[in-house]
Amino acid sequence: MRILLDTANLDSIRYFNEYYPIEGVTTNPTILAREGGSPVEMLKEIRKIIGDKKELHIQVTETEYDKIIEEAKTMVSLFGKNTFVKIPVSDVGLKATKALSDMGYGVTVTAVLTAAQAMIASCAGASYVAPYISRSENLCADGVGTVAEIATIFKSSGTKTQILAASFKTAKEVLDVAVAGCHSATIGSTIMRMLIAHTTTDTSVLGFRRDWEEAFGDKTLLGLMKG
Ligand code: G3P
Repeated sequence: MRILLDTANLDSIRYFNEYYPIEGVTTNPTILAREGGSPVEMLKEIRKIIGDKKELHIQVTETEYDKIIEEAKTMVSLFGKNTFVKIPVSDVGLKATKALSDMGYGVTVTAVLTAAQAMIASCAGASYVAPYISRSENLCADGVGTVAEIATIFKSSGTKTQILAASFKTAKEVLDVAVAGCHSATIGSTIMRMLIAHTTTDTSVLGFRRDWEEAFGDKTLLGLMKG
């Protein structure tokens, strides 16, 4: 499963872009508002950090069809070709998704809570649908199960639409959607770190260092190999 970073925090983006195999960054109005400052400058800086090949998903804030189209076109001309226009699922959103997809724009239909919404979004030509996992599970619905349903529907229909799961509150949810057949997941910094954190990994590494130093002192394998 491909991994994207769900934040607009520039320090986090710099860090995870350097160390983790992220394929892009996703934002939404709440994420941009959280950081403060100019959203346009922030998005330009994000594009600069991740380069022009990685994906940048930016959500529209317009709600009328013509304005959404204008906003989407402006977004892509400003932030480059690997920019995906996030549009919340709705009647107007579906109309805009169809029109933009027909024009060759990448659209991520977001705020998806059901497999039915995802199915219709894929019929409208969405590149991605973004099901919200923890927001679903918080309502006692089965967010992970919804991803499994979407994966089954997409597989049998042969659609090119991919699943970009979002809204995670635990690392286990991320693993569960991967097992359920999810193509991509966008994850915040805290959960991203949890995905690799393990105390037994840490103690194992400490043990390797201790055993090496007991046997070879301050010699390093690199130094010994170089003679
Ligand atoms: O990309 C938006 C989605 O991840 C929402 O996440 O944590 O606000 O439910 P959250």
